Amino acid sequence: TKPLRIALAGLGTVGGGVIRLLDENGALIARRAGRPIEIVAVSARDRSKDRGVDISRFAWVDDTTALAGLDVDVVVELVGGSDGPALTLARTTLAAGKGFVTANKAMIAHHGLELSRAAEASGAALKFEAAVAGGVPVIKGLREGAAANAIDRVYGILNGTCNFILSKMEAEGRDFADVLAEAQALGYAEADPTFDIDGVDAAHKLAILASIAFGTQPAFGDVAASGIRHVLATDIAEAEALGYRIRLLGLADHGAGGLFQRVHPHLVAVSHPLAHVTGATNAVVAEGNYVGRLLFQGAGAGDGPTASAVVADLIDIARGEFGPAFAMPADALAAEAPADPGER
Ligand code: HSE
Repeated sequence: TKPLRIALAGLGTVGGGVIRLLDENGALIARRAGRPIEIVAVSARDRSKDRGVDISRFAWVDDTTALAGLDVDVVVELVGGSDGPALTLARTTLAAGKGFVTANKAMIAHHGLELSRAAEASGAALKFEAAVAGGVPVIKGLREGAAANAIDRVYGILNGTCNFILSKMEAEGRDFADVLAEAQALGYAEADPTFDIDGVDAAHKLAILASIAFGTQPAFGDVAASGIRHVLATDIAEAEALGYRIRLLGLADHGAGGLFQRVHPHLVAVSHPLAHVTGATNAVVAEGNYVGRLLFQGAGAGDGPTASAVVADLIDIARGEFGPAFAMPADALAAEAPADPGER
């Protein structure tokens, strides 16, 4: 059978993870997908960097944006950035009718509708499971598993770096600044760590989740976000005394005033499952009108978990099972511009 041919853009932590995963689980994946998945070309900034994986067997392409022109079925983009080369590559790949798989939450949060339209126009797959909560299959869970439900609310812990910091402050009574460096040393932080700390990374993910849950277009600009910079050890102790823990939550609900999307530190009652999520873990709760409360939890970052989500998208494409990129076709999304969420 004909392999699914892949070009891979970006050979950082996640890119290396994807290569290792396909090497190690290749035979299993070929059986599940009905055909082998083969990387044929790669592109990154630095060809000679030691990544602990052999890339000499792949064609090397200097200009990342040129990957779309190769004889491949799918381009995997792990470069990052909401615009620039990643966006150029997404546009040219989809326009060429090739599949596009990405972990790029910023780009999908900003340009999801445009890219979804481009994918539909050319009949190509656009998939971004790894963009939200890393290895946790929450996009598939909501877009497919819970597709029959009206969703009342979706909310969760969407940034592992912040959750690590808050739970460390909580366990050890330490202040934010004191724990920050340890969190960064974990390797989960964004290239610009203020994106983690100030809630921007969680806001990217929330915009995507809200779109999937409510069928509105992803609208990063409508997410009100603040982070954890100002949370003190004493705030955590006071909350604890009242029966609460502090978690940075992204929360979206769809009420009379339109779609409400917000990221900020919340008080979470100790009786709630999210109060017990510690460390660099992500967890998402969705409430559906038929299924009830769903809880998705697991590793939101790291090479293994994120590669797991990227390759799951490749398996979907190899199987030929894909519909619209979000929970509904792009025209329907476009008609559902979220109302100004205002203040609540
Ligand atoms: N910086 C993110 C986090 C990584 O800490 O959760 C995955 O988006």
